[in-house]
Amino acid sequence: MRGIILAGGSATRLRPLTLVSSKQLLPVYDKPMIYYPLSLLIELGLREILVISTPEHRDQYTRLLGDGSRLGIRLEYTVQDAPRGLAHALLLARPFIGGRRICLALGDNLFHGPDPPGRLRESLGRHRGCTLFSRKVTEPEQYGVATVDAHGRVVALEEKPTRPRSDLAVTGLYFYDNDALDKAAALTPSRRGELEITDLNRCYVREGRASLVELGDDWAWFDTGTPDSLLDAAQYIRTHQQLRGRPIGSPEDAAFRAGLISREELVRQSGPVPAPSSAGPRRGLLSEHRP
Ligand code: G1P
Repeated sequence: MRGIILAGGSATRLRPLTLVSSKQLLPVYDKPMIYYPLSLLIELGLREILVISTPEHRDQYTRLLGDGSRLGIRLEYTVQDAPRGLAHALLLARPFIGGRRICLALGDNLFHGPDPPGRLRESLGRHRGCTLFSRKVTEPEQYGVATVDAHGRVVALEEKPTRPRSDLAVTGLYFYDNDALDKAAALTPSRRGELEITDLNRCYVREGRASLVELGDDWAWFDTGTPDSLLDAAQYIRTHQQLRGRPIGSPEDAAFRAGLISREELVRQSGPVPAPSSAGPRRGLLSEHRP
């Protein structure tokens, strides 16, 4: 399986922050946003990852992340020349993916949960067709929304519906078999002129090959696409990082724990590690996040 991180788009909801900067390079507390999905993919076992950005920001991503060798992984880069949709990015990844399976992460999605992320790894292990991850939210109309039947099977997916049929938001982490490339190529652009990820996922739903894994309360999830959610995510990271005394969303830390780099390398590459809060870890809040 190979990984893809999408770091393109015009991020209009974050203007003026994104007038010259790429959204996925904006800080979430003490790290660039893209560090969080990159760390997650490393934790999930991905070692070859393609970063798709815009032409004007590609060099910044290359400067920030390099070829991945310092993390013991391989990173490649390509560009999407205009916002043509999340599913369109899959087509750009075709030469990189070849005949393999795909783990696609949106560069503005931040997940934090049990450590190691057992539930996600299990889903990866038994993955067939397409696997989606949902989270209960209070404003589902802002996201892709899944409807499930009494047996937990996905029966419908809608993109930002005005009247959502459930409160299950589809998060920005997707596992696909290789058929996704042909399916994405056969999609027609939506009214806003983009190849929509929800339309791709619907193809799998129609074939009865889509699984939905609901992330429980032990998972925090942020789509950092608005000023408020960006601030919420930063505050969450600051609080939880200080409490647990170890970085969250650090690719170096993820690479060390995956055995890809030595402790010396970790120390050499990492910035200062935050001290645990003076009151010590708050057990009730943190127990589910601690190894
Ligand atoms: C995209 C997807 C949407 C998904 C969301 C998760 O929306 O189209 O289905 O729920 O990511 O972050 P966007 O945030 O790009 O508008």
